[in-house]
Amino acid sequence: MAITSAAPDRPADAKTTPWTSIRLRELTLPNRVWLSPMCQYSADEYGAPTEWHLAHYGARAAGGVGMVMVECTAVAPDMRTTARDLGLWSEHQVGAHRRLAGLISSVGSVPAVQLGIAGRKSSHGVPWDNTGTRHPVAPAAGGWQPLAPSPLPFSGLATPRSMTADDIDRVLGDLERAARNAHRAGYQALGLQASNGYLFHQFLSPLANQRTDAWGGDLEGRLRFPLAVVSALRAGWPAEKPLLIRAPVSDLLDGGVTADDAEILVARMAQLGVDLLDINSGALVPEAPRPTEPLENARFAHRFRRLGVPTATSGSVTEAHQLHRAIPESVDALFIGRAMLRDPYWALRARGGRPTEVWPKQYHRAF
Ligand SMILES: Cc1cc2nc3c(=O)[nH]c(=O)nc-3n(C[C@H](O)[C@H](O)[C@H](O)COP(=O)(O)O)c2cc1C
Repeated sequence: MAITSAAPDRPADAKTTPWTSIRLRELTLPNRVWLSPMCQYSADEYGAPTEWHLAHYGARAAGGVGMVMVECTAVAPDMRTTARDLGLWSEHQVGAHRRLAGLISSVGSVPAVQLGIAGRKSSHGVPWDNTGTRHPVAPAAGGWQPLAPSPLPFSGLATPRSMTADDIDRVLGDLERAARNAHRAGYQALGLQASNGYLFHQFLSPLANQRTDAWGGDLEGRLRFPLAVVSALRAGWPAEKPLLIRAPVSDLLDGGVTADDAEILVARMAQLGVDLLDINSGALVPEAPRPTEPLENARFAHRFRRLGVPTATSGSVTEAHQLHRAIPESVDALFIGRAMLRDPYWALRARGGRPTEVWPKQYHRAF
């Protein structure tokens, strides 16, 4: 497994385990096993969390994770992937998110939310309808015009309109407002989906950014938007709360983002106030190879730890022993995705120990 090849660049603290607390800024997370953000495509017609979100996240918050990262939440209507995405641009949405964040806290986890800017990966169907995520939804059918650095479509989706300087300013303002709204809703940590071929990644990668103005060209030009995004988030998000970025550390393709580029990006993001790098790769274009080995992306972690940046990653963790192999040797924390769709109590089971010391007291009679 790739995780064994990641050489630690700082001595691992022998006492640290996946169940040890970790402090990011003024926030202490009770453990290092976190719910990975996963879109539920179940927002109400105004982009607010529904009863589904309360049930889904509530069960997982009670299931022993140290943090619940609520799914990718749009900063503006035209930055959604689908019409069923969550948003954080209206008061109605803030009110419903407040209820969700409060629920997560009240059953023992830390509420966090991931913001998203879909760019060209925008205006498609939900996975289970007849259109699906690779089929565009036209404006006449309730969709919208996608925006991107360059007019290069993703797979079968609509050709995006190239963003003007005003569009860029507007989206940066949307990000700042969404960060402020996330704080007002009671979230304790803020994430950003900066990977998976979303707008941040589109500006960063020469495979999607063919601009010739200040927002494209060489690495310095392609870093301008990503770094402006971080500054906008920090402007709206309190200094005492941590900012976690899920960023691509390689496009895994010739001509794309390299790990050397990513090292420069991450060092500059850390200076601007990013507190943890959630390592991701690929997914900019459909041809990119998909990491399939458990925790394959952890092989990049030592580069960023060397810079002093705490790291997390996700990918095909299904067994408790994988947590112990990765934390603390390769990464500082792990996001668990699909295993926790299958089982909201995955973390409690992975933790082991005496159920009466680990499980919620309401369930003790089950053991
Ligand atoms: C249904 C589903 C929805 C997802 N939605 C998001 C999302 O909103 N934001 C994100 O960064 N990743 C998203 N992902 C990726 C997961 O967070 C995770 O990184 C990935 O599934 C790999 O981890 P796993 O093998 O533990 O599932 C999604 C994955 C799934 C299966």
